[in-house]
Amino acid sequence: MKALVVGGGGREHALAWKLAKSPQVDLIYVAPGNAGTAAEPKLKNIAIKPDDISALLAFALAEGIGLTIVGPEISLILGIVDVFEKAGLRCLGPHRAAARLEGSKSFAKDFLTRQNIPTARYQVFDDPDEAITYIKTQVTPIVVKADGLAAGKGVVIAQTEWEAIEAIHEIQVSGVFGEAGNRVVIEEFLAGEEASFIVITDGEHILPLVSTQDHKARDNGDRGPNTGGMGAYSPAPVITERVYNRIMEEVIVPTVRGMAEEGYPYRGFLYAGLMIDKNGSPKVLEYNCRFGDPEAQPIMMRLRSDLMTLFLATVERRLHEISVEWDPRAAVGVVMVAKGYPGSYAINDPIYGLPVPEREDCKVFHAGTIEKGGQILTAGGRVLCACGLGSSVTQAQAIAYSLVQQITWKEAYYRTDIGYRAITREADRDNN
Ligand code: AMP
Ligand code: GLY
Repeated sequence: MKALVVGGGGREHALAWKLAKSPQVDLIYVAPGNAGTAAEPKLKNIAIKPDDISALLAFALAEGIGLTIVGPEISLILGIVDVFEKAGLRCLGPHRAAARLEGSKSFAKDFLTRQNIPTARYQVFDDPDEAITYIKTQVTPIVVKADGLAAGKGVVIAQTEWEAIEAIHEIQVSGVFGEAGNRVVIEEFLAGEEASFIVITDGEHILPLVSTQDHKARDNGDRGPNTGGMGAYSPAPVITERVYNRIMEEVIVPTVRGMAEEGYPYRGFLYAGLMIDKNGSPKVLEYNCRFGDPEAQPIMMRLRSDLMTLFLATVERRLHEISVEWDPRAAVGVVMVAKGYPGSYAINDPIYGLPVPEREDCKVFHAGTIEKGGQILTAGGRVLCACGLGSSVTQAQAIAYSLVQQITWKEAYYRTDIGYRAITREADRDNN
Protein backbone atom coordinates (compact mmCIF):
# COMPACT_ATOMS: atom_id res chain seq x y z
CA MET A 1 0.00 0.00 0.00
CA LYS A 2 1.03 3.61 -0.55
CA ALA A 3 0.44 6.04 2.29
CA LEU A 4 0.59 9.82 2.61
CA VAL A 5 1.64 11.63 5.78
CA VAL A 6 0.65 15.29 5.82
CA GLY A 7 3.07 17.63 7.61
CA GLY A 8 6.76 18.31 7.91
CA GLY A 9 7.62 18.36 11.61
CA GLY A 10 9.19 15.99 14.10
CA ARG A 11 5.81 14.39 14.75
CA GLU A 12 5.41 13.54 11.07
CA HIS A 13 8.96 12.20 10.83
CA ALA A 14 8.28 9.91 13.79
CA LEU A 15 4.92 8.71 12.42
CA ALA A 16 6.28 8.10 8.91
CA TRP A 17 9.40 6.37 10.27
CA LYS A 18 7.29 4.01 12.34
CA LEU A 19 4.80 3.40 9.51
CA ALA A 20 7.67 2.54 7.16
CA LYS A 21 8.48 -0.44 9.39
CA SER A 22 5.12 -2.00 8.50
CA PRO A 23 5.29 -4.80 5.93
CA GLN A 24 1.90 -3.57 4.66
CA VAL A 25 3.44 -0.32 3.42
CA ASP A 26 5.51 -0.03 0.22
CA LEU A 27 5.95 3.71 -0.03
CA ILE A 28 5.05 6.71 2.11
CA TYR A 29 4.90 10.24 0.76
CA VAL A 30 5.43 13.03 3.26
CA ALA A 31 3.97 16.43 2.39
CA PRO A 32 6.12 18.45 2.61
CA GLY A 33 8.44 16.46 4.91
CA ASN A 34 11.95 17.58 5.85
CA ALA A 35 15.58 16.48 5.39
CA GLY A 36 15.02 13.63 7.86
CA THR A 37 12.06 12.11 6.05
CA ALA A 38 13.90 12.56 2.72
CA ALA A 39 16.68 10.27 3.96
CA GLU A 40 14.55 7.40 5.32
CA PRO A 41 13.97 4.14 3.48
CA LYS A 42 10.48 3.89 1.88
CA LEU A 43 9.84 7.63 2.46
CA LYS A 44 9.63 10.30 -0.22
CA ASN A 45 8.93 14.00 0.20
CA ILE A 46 6.39 15.79 -1.94
CA ALA A 47 6.35 19.59 -1.98
CA ILE A 48 2.74 20.28 -1.01
CA LYS A 49 1.81 22.38 2.01
CA PRO A 50 -0.58 21.02 4.67
CA ASP A 51 -3.11 23.82 4.03
CA ASP A 52 -3.34 23.13 0.30
CA ILE A 53 -6.14 20.58 0.59
CA SER A 54 -7.02 20.51 -3.10
CA ALA A 55 -3.41 19.84 -4.14
CA LEU A 56 -3.16 17.07 -1.52
CA LEU A 57 -6.38 15.52 -2.81
CA ALA A 58 -5.27 15.67 -6.45
CA PHE A 59 -1.97 14.05 -5.49
CA ALA A 60 -3.59 11.30 -3.40
CA LEU A 61 -6.03 10.46 -6.20
CA ALA A 62 -3.32 10.41 -8.87
CA GLU A 63 -1.02 8.21 -6.74
CA GLY A 64 -3.72 5.84 -5.50
CA ILE A 65 -2.94 6.51 -1.83
CA GLY A 66 -4.45 3.82 0.41
CA LEU A 67 -4.38 5.82 3.64
CA THR A 68 -3.60 9.44 4.46
CA ILE A 69 -2.46 10.33 7.97
CA VAL A 70 -2.78 13.96 8.98
CA GLY A 71 -0.29 15.57 11.37
CA PRO A 72 -1.09 19.28 11.69
CA GLU A 73 -4.32 20.78 13.01
CA ILE A 74 -4.58 23.25 10.14
CA SER A 75 -5.40 20.54 7.57
CA LEU A 76 -7.99 19.00 9.91
CA ILE A 77 -9.63 22.30 10.75
CA LEU A 78 -9.83 23.07 7.02
CA GLY A 79 -11.72 19.79 6.56
CA ILE A 80 -9.20 17.52 4.81
CA VAL A 81 -10.93 14.38 6.12
CA ASP A 82 -14.33 15.46 4.76
CA VAL A 83 -12.81 16.32 1.36
CA PHE A 84 -10.84 13.07 1.06
CA GLU A 85 -13.76 10.88 2.13
CA LYS A 86 -16.08 12.58 -0.34
CA ALA A 87 -13.58 11.56 -3.03
CA GLY A 88 -13.60 7.97 -1.73
CA LEU A 89 -10.21 8.14 0.02
CA ARG A 90 -9.39 6.96 3.53
CA CYS A 91 -7.98 9.69 5.73
CA LEU A 92 -7.13 9.39 9.42
CA GLY A 93 -8.21 12.30 11.59
CA PRO A 94 -11.35 14.03 12.82
CA HIS A 95 -13.84 15.58 10.42
CA ARG A 96 -14.08 19.35 10.23
CA ALA A 97 -16.99 19.54 12.71
CA ALA A 98 -15.11 17.43 15.26
CA ALA A 99 -11.82 19.31 14.78
CA ARG A 100 -13.57 22.36 16.28
CA LEU A 101 -12.50 20.92 19.64
CA GLU A 102 -9.15 22.50 18.80
CA GLY A 103 -10.18 25.07 16.18
CA SER A 104 -12.43 27.02 18.52
CA LYS A 105 -11.68 27.35 22.21
CA SER A 106 -15.21 28.65 22.88
CA PHE A 107 -16.68 25.58 21.13
CA ALA A 108 -14.47 23.36 23.28
CA LYS A 109 -15.38 25.16 26.52
CA ASP A 110 -19.11 25.08 25.75
CA PHE A 111 -18.83 21.37 24.89
CA LEU A 112 -17.01 20.67 28.17
CA THR A 113 -19.77 22.44 30.08
CA ARG A 114 -22.58 20.65 28.22
CA GLN A 115 -20.94 17.30 28.90
CA ASN A 116 -20.07 18.08 32.51
CA ILE A 117 -16.37 17.45 31.95
CA PRO A 118 -14.13 19.22 34.50
CA THR A 119 -12.45 22.39 33.22
CA ALA A 120 -11.59 25.89 34.45
CA ARG A 121 -14.50 28.30 35.00
CA TYR A 122 -14.76 30.68 32.06
CA GLN A 123 -16.66 33.30 30.11
CA VAL A 124 -16.63 34.06 26.38
CA PHE A 125 -16.58 37.64 25.08
CA ASP A 126 -16.96 39.20 21.63
CA ASP A 127 -16.87 42.72 23.04
CA PRO A 128 -13.57 43.93 24.57
CA ASP A 129 -15.28 46.41 26.93
CA GLU A 130 -17.38 43.65 28.42
CA ALA A 131 -14.28 41.47 28.72
CA ILE A 132 -12.47 44.21 30.64
CA THR A 133 -15.45 44.83 32.93
CA TYR A 134 -15.48 41.09 33.70
CA ILE A 135 -11.73 40.98 34.36
CA LYS A 136 -12.14 43.73 36.97
CA THR A 137 -14.48 41.46 38.96
CA GLN A 138 -12.08 38.48 38.96
CA VAL A 139 -9.04 37.46 40.98
CA THR A 140 -5.55 37.14 39.46
CA PRO A 141 -3.72 35.33 38.02
CA ILE A 142 -6.27 34.98 35.24
CA VAL A 143 -5.99 33.43 31.78
CA VAL A 144 -6.92 35.17 28.52
CA LYS A 145 -7.18 33.07 25.33
CA ALA A 146 -7.80 33.96 21.71
CA ASP A 147 -10.68 31.81 20.45
CA GLY A 148 -9.13 30.61 17.20
CA LEU A 149 -5.82 29.14 16.08
CA ALA A 150 -2.89 31.34 17.08
CA ALA A 151 0.09 29.03 16.54
CA GLY A 152 0.23 28.18 20.24
CA LYS A 153 0.73 31.83 21.19
CA GLY A 154 -2.84 32.90 21.87
CA VAL A 155 -2.81 32.20 25.62
CA VAL A 156 -1.81 34.83 28.18
CA ILE A 157 -1.44 33.96 31.85
CA ALA A 158 -1.96 37.41 33.33
CA GLN A 159 -0.45 37.90 36.77
CA THR A 160 -2.19 41.23 37.26
CA GLU A 161 -5.43 42.87 36.19
CA TRP A 162 -3.38 45.27 34.08
CA GLU A 163 -1.71 42.42 32.16
CA ALA A 164 -5.10 40.86 31.48
CA ILE A 165 -6.47 44.15 30.14
CA GLU A 166 -3.37 44.54 28.00
CA ALA A 167 -3.95 41.05 26.60
CA ILE A 168 -7.52 42.03 25.64
CA HIS A 169 -6.12 45.06 23.84
CA GLU A 170 -3.56 43.01 21.95
CA ILE A 171 -5.84 40.12 21.02
CA GLN A 172 -9.21 41.80 20.45
CA VAL A 173 -8.44 45.46 19.73
CA SER A 174 -5.06 45.46 17.94
CA GLY A 175 -5.85 42.05 16.46
CA VAL A 176 -2.35 40.51 16.63
CA PHE A 177 -3.88 37.10 15.80
CA GLY A 178 -6.30 38.45 13.20
CA GLU A 179 -9.75 36.89 13.19
CA ALA A 180 -8.67 34.21 15.67
CA GLY A 181 -8.81 36.96 18.31
CA ASN A 182 -12.24 38.45 17.54
CA ARG A 183 -13.56 36.39 20.39
CA VAL A 184 -11.76 35.67 23.66
CA VAL A 185 -12.18 33.12 26.41
CA ILE A 186 -11.30 34.35 29.90
CA GLU A 187 -10.80 31.62 32.45
CA GLU A 188 -9.78 30.85 35.96
CA PHE A 189 -6.09 30.06 36.54
CA LEU A 190 -5.52 26.43 37.54
CA ALA A 191 -2.60 25.32 39.68
CA GLY A 192 -1.09 21.83 39.49
CA GLU A 193 1.03 19.70 37.23
CA GLU A 194 0.30 19.56 33.51
CA ALA A 195 0.05 16.33 31.57
CA SER A 196 -0.84 15.38 28.02
CA PHE A 197 -3.21 12.48 27.63
CA ILE A 198 -3.39 11.18 24.09
CA VAL A 199 -5.69 8.47 22.78
CA ILE A 200 -6.66 7.17 19.38
CA THR A 201 -10.36 6.59 18.81
CA ASP A 202 -12.56 5.34 15.99
CA GLY A 203 -15.53 7.36 17.25
CA GLU A 204 -16.68 4.66 19.62
CA HIS A 205 -13.76 2.59 20.86
CA ILE A 206 -10.77 4.17 22.55
CA LEU A 207 -7.16 3.09 22.69
CA PRO A 208 -5.09 5.17 25.12
CA LEU A 209 -1.43 5.65 24.20
CA VAL A 210 1.29 5.50 26.84
CA SER A 211 1.40 8.60 29.02
CA THR A 212 3.64 11.56 28.21
CA GLN A 213 4.46 14.97 29.48
CA ASP A 214 5.88 17.78 27.40
CA HIS A 215 7.78 20.89 28.38
CA LYS A 216 6.15 23.90 26.79
CA ALA A 217 8.33 26.65 28.27
CA ARG A 218 11.52 27.54 26.43
CA ASP A 219 13.97 27.56 29.32
CA ASN A 220 15.13 25.23 32.08
CA GLY A 221 12.85 24.93 35.09
CA ASP A 222 9.82 25.55 32.85
CA ARG A 223 10.58 29.24 32.60
CA GLY A 224 10.49 31.68 29.71
CA PRO A 225 7.97 32.02 26.89
CA ASN A 226 5.65 29.22 25.80
CA THR A 227 6.71 27.27 22.72
CA GLY A 228 5.24 24.39 20.72
CA GLY A 229 7.23 22.08 23.00
CA MET A 230 10.90 21.83 23.96
CA GLY A 231 10.91 18.15 24.80
CA ALA A 232 8.75 15.31 26.08
CA TYR A 233 9.08 12.06 27.94
CA SER A 234 7.11 8.88 28.53
CA PRO A 235 5.85 7.52 30.83
CA ALA A 236 4.71 10.53 32.89
CA PRO A 237 4.71 9.54 36.57
CA VAL A 238 2.06 12.16 37.39
CA ILE A 239 -0.36 9.78 35.63
CA THR A 240 -0.59 7.15 38.36
CA GLU A 241 -3.05 4.32 37.87
CA ARG A 242 -5.62 6.18 39.92
CA VAL A 243 -5.18 9.40 37.95
CA TYR A 244 -5.27 7.41 34.70
CA ASN A 245 -8.61 5.86 35.64
CA ARG A 246 -10.03 9.24 36.59
CA ILE A 247 -8.89 10.81 33.31
CA MET A 248 -10.47 8.01 31.29
CA GLU A 249 -13.71 8.11 33.27
CA GLU A 250 -14.10 11.85 33.79
CA VAL A 251 -12.56 13.21 30.58
CA ILE A 252 -11.83 10.84 27.71
CA VAL A 253 -14.88 8.58 27.68
CA PRO A 254 -17.34 11.48 28.12
CA THR A 255 -15.55 13.39 25.35
CA VAL A 256 -15.77 10.60 22.79
CA ARG A 257 -19.33 9.72 23.81
CA GLY A 258 -20.41 13.36 23.90
CA MET A 259 -19.02 14.12 20.45
CA ALA A 260 -20.89 11.12 19.03
CA GLU A 261 -24.11 12.06 20.84
CA GLU A 262 -23.94 15.62 19.57
CA GLY A 263 -23.68 14.40 15.99
CA TYR A 264 -19.98 14.74 15.19
CA PRO A 265 -18.30 11.47 16.14
CA TYR A 266 -14.61 12.03 16.80
CA ARG A 267 -12.14 9.84 14.97
CA GLY A 268 -8.36 10.04 15.09
CA PHE A 269 -5.89 11.21 17.69
CA LEU A 270 -7.49 13.05 20.57
CA TYR A 271 -5.16 15.00 22.80
CA ALA A 272 -6.36 16.35 26.12
CA GLY A 273 -4.10 18.93 27.75
CA LEU A 274 -4.80 18.51 31.46
CA MET A 275 -4.01 20.13 34.75
CA ILE A 276 -3.77 17.59 37.55
CA ASP A 277 -4.23 19.17 40.97
CA LYS A 278 -2.65 17.96 44.19
CA ASN A 279 -5.57 15.61 44.86
CA GLY A 280 -5.13 13.96 41.47
CA SER A 281 -8.22 15.60 39.95
CA PRO A 282 -7.88 16.27 36.23
CA LYS A 283 -9.25 19.37 34.50
CA VAL A 284 -9.13 19.99 30.77
CA LEU A 285 -6.96 22.95 29.72
CA GLU A 286 -7.42 22.37 26.03
CA TYR A 287 -8.08 19.76 23.40
CA ASN A 288 -5.93 19.18 20.38
CA CYS A 289 -7.41 17.31 17.45
CA ARG A 290 -4.09 15.70 16.48
CA PHE A 291 -1.07 13.97 17.89
CA GLY A 292 1.25 16.12 20.02
CA ASP A 293 4.61 17.35 18.84
CA PRO A 294 7.03 16.46 20.47
CA GLU A 295 4.94 13.86 22.37
CA ALA A 296 4.68 11.71 19.23
CA GLN A 297 8.44 11.22 19.08
CA PRO A 298 8.96 9.46 22.45
CA ILE A 299 5.65 7.61 22.03
CA MET A 300 6.66 6.24 18.62
CA MET A 301 9.99 5.16 20.12
CA ARG A 302 8.02 3.02 22.58
CA LEU A 303 5.47 1.53 20.16
CA ARG A 304 6.31 -2.05 19.25
CA SER A 305 3.17 -2.96 17.30
CA ASP A 306 2.53 -2.37 13.62
CA LEU A 307 1.32 1.21 13.21
CA MET A 308 -0.51 0.60 9.92
CA THR A 309 -2.59 -2.17 11.54
CA LEU A 310 -3.59 0.30 14.25
CA PHE A 311 -4.44 3.06 11.76
CA LEU A 312 -6.49 0.77 9.51
CA ALA A 313 -8.48 -0.52 12.49
CA THR A 314 -9.19 3.12 13.42
CA VAL A 315 -10.53 4.21 10.03
CA GLU A 316 -12.47 0.94 9.74
CA ARG A 317 -14.06 1.47 13.19
CA ARG A 318 -12.82 -1.80 14.65
CA LEU A 319 -10.33 -0.48 17.15
CA HIS A 320 -11.70 -2.83 19.82
CA GLU A 321 -10.13 -5.72 17.87
CA ILE A 322 -6.65 -4.30 18.35
CA SER A 323 -4.22 -4.47 21.21
CA VAL A 324 -0.85 -2.79 21.10
CA GLU A 325 2.45 -3.66 22.66
CA TRP A 326 4.65 -1.00 24.22
CA ASP A 327 8.34 -1.02 25.02
CA PRO A 328 8.57 -1.06 28.84
CA ARG A 329 11.55 1.28 28.66
CA ALA A 330 11.15 5.03 29.19
CA ALA A 331 11.70 7.47 26.33
CA VAL A 332 12.92 11.07 26.38
CA GLY A 333 12.95 13.48 23.42
CA VAL A 334 14.96 16.71 23.56
CA VAL A 335 14.07 19.38 21.02
CA MET A 336 16.94 21.42 19.58
CA VAL A 337 15.77 24.82 18.39
CA ALA A 338 17.22 27.82 16.60
CA LYS A 339 18.23 30.55 19.06
CA GLY A 340 15.49 33.19 19.25
CA TYR A 341 12.62 30.71 18.88
CA PRO A 342 9.68 31.16 19.62
CA GLY A 343 10.46 34.70 18.43
CA SER A 344 12.48 35.38 15.27
CA TYR A 345 15.48 33.20 14.46
CA ALA A 346 17.98 32.51 11.69
CA ILE A 347 17.55 29.77 9.09
CA ASN A 348 19.92 28.16 6.56
CA ASP A 349 22.64 27.40 9.12
CA PRO A 350 24.58 24.22 8.29
CA ILE A 351 24.04 21.47 10.87
CA TYR A 352 27.12 19.44 11.84
CA GLY A 353 27.11 15.91 13.24
CA LEU A 354 24.25 14.42 11.19
CA PRO A 355 23.39 11.67 10.68
CA VAL A 356 24.30 10.21 14.06
CA PRO A 357 25.02 6.47 13.87
CA GLU A 358 21.79 4.39 13.99
CA ARG A 359 21.13 2.48 17.18
CA GLU A 360 18.09 0.60 18.43
CA ASP A 361 17.75 2.75 21.55
CA CYS A 362 18.03 6.21 20.02
CA LYS A 363 16.89 8.26 17.07
CA VAL A 364 17.12 11.85 15.87
CA PHE A 365 13.87 13.07 14.31
CA HIS A 366 14.00 16.10 12.07
CA ALA A 367 11.61 19.07 12.09
CA GLY A 368 12.80 22.35 10.52
CA THR A 369 15.57 20.97 8.30
CA ILE A 370 16.28 21.05 4.57
CA GLU A 371 18.96 19.45 2.44
CA LYS A 372 20.82 21.65 -0.06
CA GLY A 373 23.79 20.44 -2.06
CA GLY A 374 24.49 17.52 0.28
CA GLN A 375 24.42 19.70 3.41
CA ILE A 376 21.59 19.71 5.94
CA LEU A 377 20.54 23.23 6.90
CA THR A 378 18.21 24.62 9.56
CA ALA A 379 14.83 25.65 8.15
CA GLY A 380 12.62 26.39 11.15
CA GLY A 381 12.41 27.22 14.85
CA ARG A 382 12.23 23.66 16.13
CA VAL A 383 14.99 21.88 14.21
CA LEU A 384 15.55 18.38 15.62
CA CYS A 385 14.27 16.10 18.36
CA ALA A 386 16.87 13.72 19.81
CA CYS A 387 15.24 10.68 21.45
CA GLY A 388 16.61 7.99 23.72
CA LEU A 389 15.16 4.85 25.29
CA GLY A 390 16.40 3.69 28.70
CA SER A 391 15.52 1.59 31.70
CA SER A 392 14.34 4.77 33.50
CA VAL A 393 13.64 8.37 32.51
CA THR A 394 17.07 9.18 33.97
CA GLN A 395 18.77 6.66 31.65
CA ALA A 396 16.70 7.69 28.64
CA GLN A 397 17.56 11.33 29.27
CA ALA A 398 21.29 10.53 29.34
CA ILE A 399 21.01 8.80 25.97
CA ALA A 400 19.00 11.64 24.43
CA TYR A 401 21.56 14.22 25.58
CA SER A 402 24.45 12.10 24.32
CA LEU A 403 22.88 12.52 20.86
CA VAL A 404 22.38 16.24 21.37
CA GLN A 405 26.05 16.59 22.21
CA GLN A 406 27.06 15.14 18.84
CA ILE A 407 25.09 17.74 16.90
CA THR A 408 25.69 21.44 16.51
CA TRP A 409 25.07 24.51 14.42
CA LYS A 410 25.59 28.22 14.87
CA GLU A 411 23.31 29.26 17.73
CA ALA A 412 21.65 25.94 18.50
CA TYR A 413 19.65 26.06 21.72
CA TYR A 414 18.02 23.42 23.91
CA ARG A 415 16.92 22.83 27.46
CA THR A 416 19.18 20.67 29.59
CA ASP A 417 16.52 19.40 31.99
CA ILE A 418 13.91 17.56 29.90
CA GLY A 419 12.14 15.05 32.11
CA TYR A 420 13.32 16.62 35.37
CA ARG A 421 10.07 16.04 37.24
CA ALA A 422 10.16 12.31 36.52
CA ILE A 423 13.88 12.20 37.29
CA THR A 424 13.34 13.89 40.67
CA ARG A 425 10.67 11.30 41.44
CA GLU A 426 13.01 8.48 40.40
CA ALA A 427 15.75 9.86 42.67
CA ASP A 428 13.30 10.19 45.59
CA ARG A 429 12.19 6.60 45.02
CA ASP A 430 15.78 5.33 44.91
CA ASN A 431 16.59 7.17 48.15
CA ASN A 432 13.66 5.64 50.01
P1 AMP B 1 -3.63 26.02 25.90
O1 AMP B 1 -3.20 26.34 24.50
O2 AMP B 1 -5.05 26.35 26.20
O3 AMP B 1 -3.23 24.65 26.36
O4 AMP B 1 -2.72 26.93 26.82
C1 AMP B 1 -1.32 26.90 26.72
C2 AMP B 1 -0.71 26.75 28.07
O5 AMP B 1 -1.16 27.78 28.94
C3 AMP B 1 -1.08 25.47 28.77
O6 AMP B 1 -0.25 24.42 28.38
C4 AMP B 1 -0.88 25.84 30.23
O7 AMP B 1 0.49 25.81 30.57
C5 AMP B 1 -1.32 27.26 30.26
N1 AMP B 1 -2.74 27.38 30.65
C6 AMP B 1 -3.81 27.40 29.82
N2 AMP B 1 -4.96 27.53 30.52
C7 AMP B 1 -4.61 27.59 31.82
C8 AMP B 1 -5.34 27.72 33.04
N3 AMP B 1 -6.68 27.86 33.06
N4 AMP B 1 -4.65 27.73 34.19
C9 AMP B 1 -3.31 27.63 34.19
N5 AMP B 1 -2.55 27.52 33.08
C10 AMP B 1 -3.19 27.49 31.91
N1 GLY C 1 3.33 19.61 22.54
C1 GLY C 1 2.13 20.34 22.51
C2 GLY C 1 1.35 20.22 21.30
O1 GLY C 1 1.60 19.41 20.42
O2 GLY C 1 0.42 20.98 21.17
